Amino acid sequence: MTETLAPTPVLPPLQIGCHTIESPVVLAPMAGITNRAFRRLCRRYGAAGSAAGGASGATSLYVSEMITSRALVERTPLTMRLIEHDADEQPRSIQLYSVDPATTARAVHILASENRCDHIDLNFGCPVPKVTRRGGGAALPWKTELFRGIVSAAVREAAPYDIPVTVKMRKGIDDDHLTFLEAGRIAEGEGAAAVALHARTAAQAYSGTAKWEAIAQLKQTVTSIPVLGNGDIWSAEDAVRMVRETGCDGVVVGRGCLGRPWLFTDLAAAFAGRPTRVQPTLREVTDTLRLHTVYLAEFFEDERKACRDIRKHIAWYLKGFRVGSHLRASLGLVDSLTALDDLIGTLELDQPWPGDAAEGQRGRAGSERHVVLPEGWLDSQALDDRLRAEVAQAELSVSGG
Ligand SMILES: Cc1cc2nc3c(=O)[nH]c(=O)nc-3n(C[C@H](O)[C@H](O)[C@H](O)COP(=O)(O)O)c2cc1C
Repeated sequence: MTETLAPTPVLPPLQIGCHTIESPVVLAPMAGITNRAFRRLCRRYGAAGSAAGGASGATSLYVSEMITSRALVERTPLTMRLIEHDADEQPRSIQLYSVDPATTARAVHILASENRCDHIDLNFGCPVPKVTRRGGGAALPWKTELFRGIVSAAVREAAPYDIPVTVKMRKGIDDDHLTFLEAGRIAEGEGAAAVALHARTAAQAYSGTAKWEAIAQLKQTVTSIPVLGNGDIWSAEDAVRMVRETGCDGVVVGRGCLGRPWLFTDLAAAFAGRPTRVQPTLREVTDTLRLHTVYLAEFFEDERKACRDIRKHIAWYLKGFRVGSHLRASLGLVDSLTALDDLIGTLELDQPWPGDAAEGQRGRAGSERHVVLPEGWLDSQALDDRLRAEVAQAELSVSGG
């Protein structure tokens, strides 16, 4: 009789405050992407990966696209829609972008007292010039007391409701102005439930490679709460390698799952110690693409809008498959589910998973840049009245990190 050994999990479940996340994987918040529709797809694939191993209800954490504290306090219709979750989403996670403690407190109070979420992630990673120009996003942790005030306000308001607050950040502004170790220590001291590091500076934006050594450094510095690693995980193997190389307690996956939500099946399987990997045929890929569009139509309550939105996902879904440029262009103009079905019907759907051609980098890349900051921002880590007024403006028209 042969004895079957249970696979050995790579890591224990991830504890984020009161939430036990069986598979230590987090869907990175991505503006314009991680809405309720995409999260539903990722959640289904994650659960499939967990169930295959017999784990009970194993889940990952799927973070919403970012909302700004100010828009939440003003209850703008778009923001109120973005914070909705499916009835079976657990924990209900929301990412908040904030630039001042008072608005943060009000926003968190709304989320907590109105029972609108179970986890709040604070975004300190946005590198876009219109945000850093005012001292927001990845520029903000440089002003340590402002950073402390925001984290502390969020934790204070969320604590009575047992809602954990986590911090997501970059390494710093540039290589000469690294902030992550001090910010990690501050977040830990103020009661954050975990810290996540995208191991790039704002100057790197999405260029070059993430410096995973920084994740290892953070793990050695922040010792009482989980440290999550983020940056350049394109496969389940990358995720496991990041854990082995850095000692991090879990991983945050962004671009790797674009057009590839089944990566969450792979990740759940890999972390459970199983070799299962999803390698869909083009027929299965287009079934998922279509389902994504249907979910978007439900989310937007508008089929045309859903079709416009799915366009940006099409190249990611089709990466590596043999699909002519003319067809790709037509798919990029799709405006109804019927048109989508017609175009899918013309594809050679029995193509197997193309392997390497479909793997690897997808989504944003770009090149290193000079980080635009308010005048005098780097002169001191303290905030004077002029800069305080400037950073208060950093919340206008923000989108994504
Ligand atoms: C389209 C897009 C939108 C993003 N929006 C956000 C955001 O709203 N909040 C945030 O903290 N990070 C945001 N990010 C950054 C990701 O969460 C993640 O940190 C980054 O992509 C690095 O991880 P990756 O290499 O796995 O993609 C965004 C990234 C992309 C590509």
